[in-house]
Amino acid sequence: MDRIELTSAKCIKGEFVPPPDKSISHRAVIFSSIAEGKSVIKNFLRAEDTLSTVSAFRALGIDITEERTGEIIVHGRGINGLREPGNVIDCRNSGTTMRLLSGILAANPFFTVLSGDDSLRRRPMRRVLLPLREMGAEISGRDNDRYPPLAIKGKALRAIKYEMPVASAQLKSAVLLAGLYPEGETEITEPFPSRDHTERMLPAFGAEIGVGGRAVRIRGGAKLRGRDTAVPGDFSSAAFFIAASLLVRDSDVVIKSVGVNPTRTGFLNVLKKMGADVVVENIHEVSGEPVADIHCTGGKTLKGTDIKGDEVPLLIDEFPILCVLASQAEGVTSISGAEELRIKESDRIKAMATELRKLGVRLEERPDGISIEGRTGLKGSEVESYGDHRIAMSLAVAALVSSGKTTINHASCVDISFPNFFEELRRLECRG
Ligand code: S3P
Repeated sequence: MDRIELTSAKCIKGEFVPPPDKSISHRAVIFSSIAEGKSVIKNFLRAEDTLSTVSAFRALGIDITEERTGEIIVHGRGINGLREPGNVIDCRNSGTTMRLLSGILAANPFFTVLSGDDSLRRRPMRRVLLPLREMGAEISGRDNDRYPPLAIKGKALRAIKYEMPVASAQLKSAVLLAGLYPEGETEITEPFPSRDHTERMLPAFGAEIGVGGRAVRIRGGAKLRGRDTAVPGDFSSAAFFIAASLLVRDSDVVIKSVGVNPTRTGFLNVLKKMGADVVVENIHEVSGEPVADIHCTGGKTLKGTDIKGDEVPLLIDEFPILCVLASQAEGVTSISGAEELRIKESDRIKAMATELRKLGVRLEERPDGISIEGRTGLKGSEVESYGDHRIAMSLAVAALVSSGKTTINHASCVDISFPNFFEELRRLECRG
């Protein structure tokens, strides 16, 4: 069984460059594939999830080559240039691949089946099917349209106005991509803002997109043209190193070239409320996304806080690591309005509640969140990742401030977003 053993660290020190952003890497491949001509993607994330998107587009007839490590070339064929695949497309663990692809395939005149691994086949798809059907798509899923596999027979779509029931960038992006095809304007409104990488990047390929308040509009019929994109570092991967350096005394880490798009950095706002020593410096722009260096100093006692409502989508992927920070803060930290976390790569509320309890943390699990008592002296134990990359990395950070030995089962799932996570952690750790 793939497992890793970790013990406490004395400090975390040095410079760290996070892996390229997962959400932006997916989108760069998808938009380049449906644009006409050549696109170069620099600093592309080579991880399981984003490689699922690459194989999906290869199966749809797109020529994608890797020139040097970290740089790929996509020879796009335009929004109508995809070909019917000869087999089921396996999206493996990647919800972004399946949901964004559904929006495109709904408008392409051929038959496709999208499937995935055990985790992805339990993730809700009706949220994507409903608006696409309203646009005229012929798309259905297992268990009365709840889950993958999805069967899609592409058709001519019509533009719609759609009010999203949940704040989800994957759902928003699926509808925007479908909106590239019909005549007229498709409008989608979110309850709260979610990550806006699609709205930032797609216009650079030639799409006509307008953003006003919580609504995003796209005009169909635009011609997309290939272009080069540089992917910034992934804030969500950096978050594990930010947390590790805040928790382990005498730490001092500079995280270089990390994306700080405000729809992704709700975690930094919470850290500020908790009183953490975090400085964002050298802010500049890369391919339409803000990028910065983040300097973190450890040892300061954090204060517990409350997180709810519109704060949640802005730190949706940072929930597991936030739970670890909460266990070491003064007082109680409470997260509510976060029911979406139950349907991620794992049920992340249940996973963190169960595993932190094993390390000795007192907490209350609720349907929509969790309350965690802080200042716990963590005791190393055998813990489970549930095959969820962000749970594995969060538990690894907890191990750095636990007594004795922590064993993480199924730890190789970090390959989904951060293949050299454990090597990087080891490199920055000081022991003694
Ligand atoms: C993502 C959106 C979020 C996030 C996921 C990546 C994206 O999911 O949790 O890791 O790339 O659009 P939801 O749209 O389901 O919130």
